[in-house]
Amino acid sequence: MLIKRKRGWEIPESQATPERLYFSRRKLLGAGASLAAASLFPELANAQRASDVPDPTASLYPAKRNDKYKFDGKLTEERLAANYNNFYEYGTSKYIASAAQQLKIRPWQIKFDGMVEKEQTVDIDTLIKAVQLEERIYRLRCVEAWSAVIPWTGFQMSELVNFAKPLSSAKYIRMETFNDPKMAPEQRPGFLSDGNWPYIEGCSIEEANNELSFMVTGAYGKGGYKQFGAPIRLMQPWKYGFKAIKSIVRVTFTDKRPVGYWEKLQVQEYGFWANVNPEVSHPRWSQASERDIGTGERRPTVLFNGYGEYVAGLYKDMKGERLWA
Ligand code: MTE
Repeated sequence: MLIKRKRGWEIPESQATPERLYFSRRKLLGAGASLAAASLFPELANAQRASDVPDPTASLYPAKRNDKYKFDGKLTEERLAANYNNFYEYGTSKYIASAAQQLKIRPWQIKFDGMVEKEQTVDIDTLIKAVQLEERIYRLRCVEAWSAVIPWTGFQMSELVNFAKPLSSAKYIRMETFNDPKMAPEQRPGFLSDGNWPYIEGCSIEEANNELSFMVTGAYGKGGYKQFGAPIRLMQPWKYGFKAIKSIVRVTFTDKRPVGYWEKLQVQEYGFWANVNPEVSHPRWSQASERDIGTGERRPTVLFNGYGEYVAGLYKDMKGERLWA
């Protein structure tokens, strides 16, 4: 239980990580679980990407940058962004780049089901070749009050929706990450966040069709970046980063609002809409400012992470909803 509220940049990992995860991590370390613990220690030099299997889409990178989505400030240096990640399947540390290399990203299939014209399972390479890849520079704002500016490669999420052919009765999209303890030891029974896997996130169909919603297949001009959630993850830059689900294997169209991984774990701290708002504090820390992991500087957080012109309209009639995480 937190007694004294510190300023954001003073948040130790024990406060920024939900208690249930933090305590299970301590238990795990105490038990000397060497395999899982190995993924918790910093390996700053390691920004390696997939090299175990050929990527049939490799020739599509680097994709052309779409200058509509750019940022006037500095990009976060690749070696910094690729070595400071949240990917709890590989541990609660930020330094999971090395552990994440256990992820096998080929073959990789995505299942589309639920309220769709026809359920289908598609190979990731078929999907990537069916869409138009481009590069967009987006700001990433984690709910833990750190941020980065990253050139993502991918395609607009509306293309994914079109590909899936949802029924008009579908209102939400539920997405699921792989659940395979052989690739992610933290998913073994009795380990981190036991019973809460796979990682799940969701959004409304309107959000998915917003032009900013982006399915990411690569970063910094390359595909197959495992620590960034290869081979495919979501990026909705106006929301806190926990909505940006990585390594997706299933996309379900539904009329029921999905309950995400964090919402299930700690609903009082993490909600469904999770839009960035500097004026609404997290129950354990302020969201007024953020630490840029590239420069180390603090800067004021901006409503909708600065993307209000694109997305504020999505929420204007949602009275009584918990719009901010
Ligand atoms: N997706 C999965 N499957 N597992 C995770 O632990 N962490 C989320 C999100 N997507 C997470 C995930 C959180 S909390 C954040 S802030 C972003 O990924 C971090 O993305 P990055 O590592 O590319 O910076």
